[in-house]
Parts: sequence; structure tokens; C-alpha cells
Amino acid sequence: MKIDYADLVKKATYARVSAYAPYSKYKVGAALICGDGTIYKGANIENSAYSESVCAERVAFYHAITKGGNRDFKAIAIVGAKDDICEYAFPCGSCRQVMSEFCDENFKIVLYNGKEIKTYTLKKLFPEAFTKNNIK
Ligand code: THU
Repeated sequence: MKIDYADLVKKATYARVSAYAPYSKYKVGAALICGDGTIYKGANIENSAYSESVCAERVAFYHAITKGGNRDFKAIAIVGAKDDICEYAFPCGSCRQVMSEFCDENFKIVLYNGKEIKTYTLKKLFPEAFTKNNIK
């Protein structure tokens, strides 16, 4: 399946509109695509008890998992910034760990700085992960 990364970035940008980020003002949107083309979106949701905030990427994954459908995740586009998108929004360590639970090493992380799209494999951004293989 050929993924249209520009379209996925566009979906992440739409998702970002729903971010609830009154504290950091840093709004993030994510669009997670499966092998059959299904897309799950997420945006960051903050809380006055700061540690209860959740990242856009994990909202997208948990949305997909709780829908109970396709887990054949292929790529996630992430866009984030305080104002206009002008820098690549790399996923935090916790989100990388969650990706590694549900995705293989070839899973693509798609970033956009307002001008260009960059793609990374999960293996590149999260090498030597602690996974279910370690505890079986
Ligand atoms: N954030 C994400 O949504 N994804 C990440 O991978 C990094 C950070 C959010 C969390 C918080 O609401 C805001 O960005 C600033 O840290």
C-alpha cells in the first residue's frame, strides 16, 4: 500500500484544531493510518493537574485500539507548534514506547515543518526498545 504522506500530514493538521492545550499553548495533531487506509486522529489534551495531560499520538493510538478494529498500523503523521507549524514535532519518549507496543520497526513517523515532510522509521527513532519479547 502506498501512503500519501502529504495527505496524512493534512489530516494531522485538521486533528490539531481539536487540541486542548491552554497551559503549554503547544498544540499537536496526529493522524495514524492502517494498512487498509483507515485513519485515526488524535490531539493533545492537557489538564490543570499537568501530569494527567496526554499527547496527540497516544490519543490516536488509544482511539484506534478502543475502536477494536484494525491494528495494522503503518504510519503516523505528527504536527505540533505553539503558533504556525514551523518545526518538526518529534514524538516524546512515552509515545515512542507506545508505538513500539503496537508497531513493527518499519512503522513510519511522518513529520512536517511547514515546508518539507520528513519520514523516519520507528527503528531509527526508538532503537533497542524494551518490548513484549523481553518479558515472554
Ligand atoms: N505533546 C504531544 O502531544 N506529543 C508529543 O510527542 C510531545 C508533547 C504535547 C503534550 C503537551 O500537551 C504539549 O505537547 C507540550 O508538551
